[in-house]
Amino acid sequence: MPNWIIEKKKIKKFSKTINVSGDKSISIRWVLLASLAKGMSKAQNLLLSEDVLGAIKAIKKLGIKVKFKKNYCIINGQGINGYNFKKNVVINAQNSATLGRLLLGLLVNTNKQIKIIGDRSLSKRDFSRVTEPLKRFGAKIKTYNKLLPVKILGRKILKPITYFEKKGSAQCKSAVMFAALRTPGITKIKAKKSRDHTERMFKSLKLPIKLKSTKYYDFINIRGISEYDSFDYKIPGDISSSAFFIVLTALSENSELLIKNVNINPSRLGIITILKKMGVKIYFRNIKTYKGEKNADIKIKGPKKLKAIRCPKNLNSGAIDEFLIIFLVAAKAKGVSYFSNLSELNQKESPRLIWGEKILNKMGIKTFSTKDSIKIYGNPDLKINKKIIIKNFLKDHRVFMTSVVAALSFGGIWKIYDKESISSSFPNFLKIINKFKN
Ligand code: S3P
Repeated sequence: MPNWIIEKKKIKKFSKTINVSGDKSISIRWVLLASLAKGMSKAQNLLLSEDVLGAIKAIKKLGIKVKFKKNYCIINGQGINGYNFKKNVVINAQNSATLGRLLLGLLVNTNKQIKIIGDRSLSKRDFSRVTEPLKRFGAKIKTYNKLLPVKILGRKILKPITYFEKKGSAQCKSAVMFAALRTPGITKIKAKKSRDHTERMFKSLKLPIKLKSTKYYDFINIRGISEYDSFDYKIPGDISSSAFFIVLTALSENSELLIKNVNINPSRLGIITILKKMGVKIYFRNIKTYKGEKNADIKIKGPKKLKAIRCPKNLNSGAIDEFLIIFLVAAKAKGVSYFSNLSELNQKESPRLIWGEKILNKMGIKTFSTKDSIKIYGNPDLKINKKIIIKNFLKDHRVFMTSVVAALSFGGIWKIYDKESISSSFPNFLKIINKFKN
């Protein structure tokens, strides 16, 4: 089987209903938190992608039993001090920074050494952003030039910290929140706004957490505990996976799409706000609250015209995983779009600001970029007639999926490498894409 695909046909107008797979952030958090709960936790619609299966492999190495039934995943937690493993265990976080970073938070008081490694992409990413605050709890941690592998040897005696998270990174915030749970006393966090699934899961578990919010910051106090109960979860669809189909629709005049039961946590809605400002019609239907998270069906209609945007910086965090795909909408919009303060984008699975620009330039779109911003000169009449090759992108799943959407929306002959990259977040992406071809 080749590891590349060829796309050479633009899709026609469509009207469809789809389901996307479970939310990745919620799936990983459920696996990690269930592993320290007391008793059996069950999840339905858990995302079965490499990142989440990596989390399951990790907790199995730590001595936790996991079973898969037809529609469920069952984790048999042994309580907050229930990990049981040999000395010098090596855990491979594979491609997932969320897994690597959050797991470190849970391991602050391990009494045997654990080494965390990752794949080529993860091994280029900064881990000091979590190891530095975790060291302040008292955990003994060794890093190499801020990168993986990280060796952690926790401490029995931990002390709570006061932590200021300045990047707007939910991974940093959550790693500290997990460590706080295992640390006697009250840990105090001031965090630049970012996705808040961990806070909502803590609350729904009735863990001792206090929250206050201002426009730009969240204030979180967490008291360490010695036990909490197991918990079941029905994982909603992932808005970051939905994003590819939302944009496929936004780029197809008069097409319509309904995506069923997607998580619409306000801290993840950057793409919706941005696309609405650009002229896309998007509605939420059937809104329901489940365990403190809002979920809904999302209805999208492809507009006649798209407007350029000067993207407000306060939308960056809520759209952090969606900029590559949003750039395609800017490519077709009338006028010059501008996105700024995006240095975090180059800290992802690949340097995504650079890759976003590369894809646009290959498509024939003019851009102007700095280290942390990009201007995109939109062309509403864009039609591609040439061959485009996308490769060597560190197997970044979102580069792959964005390229597929570009090919189906703008035409041209695209050869896109590393199709197995989708397995980290959205293994059935190409199957769903096929439903749009006819
Ligand atoms: C995630 C947080 C974000 C996001 C990542 C998932 C999470 O990363 O890009 O895909 O589940 O907490 P940062 O927190 O590093 O911005």
